[in-house]
Amino acid sequence: MKEIQFKNIEFSYHNDEKVINDLSFTIEKGSYTTLIGHNGSGKSTVAKLMIGLLEADSGEILVRDLKMNVENISKIRKSLGMVFQNPDNQFIGATVEDDIAFGLENMVVAQEKMRDIILKYANDVGMSEYLEREPEKLSGGQKQRVAIAGVLAMAPEIIIFDEATSMLDPKGKAEIKAMIKQIHKQYNITVISITHDIEEVVGSDYVYVLANGQIALEGIPADVLIMEEELIDLSLDVPFAIKINSLFKEQGINLEKTINFEGLVEQICQLK
Ligand SMILES: Nc1ncnc2c1ncn2[C@@H]1O[C@H](COP(=O)(O)OP(=O)(O)OP(=O)(O)O)[C@@H](O)[C@H]1O
Ligand SMILES: [Mg+2]
Repeated sequence: MKEIQFKNIEFSYHNDEKVINDLSFTIEKGSYTTLIGHNGSGKSTVAKLMIGLLEADSGEILVRDLKMNVENISKIRKSLGMVFQNPDNQFIGATVEDDIAFGLENMVVAQEKMRDIILKYANDVGMSEYLEREPEKLSGGQKQRVAIAGVLAMAPEIIIFDEATSMLDPKGKAEIKAMIKQIHKQYNITVISITHDIEEVVGSDYVYVLANGQIALEGIPADVLIMEEELIDLSLDVPFAIKINSLFKEQGINLEKTINFEGLVEQICQLK
């Protein structure tokens, strides 16, 4: 089933050059889809079009079969949550609890129910001990957890992460990445992750590669991420396992191309 459809979308900021150029693609319901592309390729613009923060110049966007238009936008927004790159830009509450509650208050949820919902999601993201804390005093990774809890509390069908881990240290990055995976499994939510982290793409169901506002490559990661030359031409990284594969090749050892560590290690262990 199709969760989001872009049909021939065109978009430019202030009538300048086209940033999104006849873009058509589909996000499958329940999938973990990654969207990659060089800086300025239009990824964040696509995310903003998806949530109706920007309006396309032409073409059609469907979210869960609802056409993106003035009539449907509030309904569509209810089904979508978004976590941004900068953890400092997502805070509005005086405490972590207020912060998670923010979206719920907008949805007019009864007070007694609200407390239970906040506790559940704070617990799910490992932040239940921090409910009375000031969000500003948390680490970057903790701030992103709170942002995720706030989004989950609104029970969206789709969550978009726009480089949600890129400003975090390695530990925070690993934790939030694991959390995104967990959320996808646990809540059966459609996840769209915009990322520069090629190892995150390895673990996703489907990947779109954006270049100049168009889809340059797409497919399951095992098919797309072995295209080393194409990815490098698009200023993108290749998976670690592919880099090692090339180094072996330089030494005259031909391994089968695999995008994950396990597949690589298995083959190396079989070398005599
Ligand atoms: N508010 C804006 N006004 C004018 N131009 C903009 C605006 N936001 C983005 N752009 C331009 O649109 C293009 C696409 O930007 P976008 O932010 O969508 O790229 P991106 O793929 O998300 O990049 P990054 O990886 O750096 O986050 C860029 O050329 C950018 O300069
Ligand atoms: Mg961006």
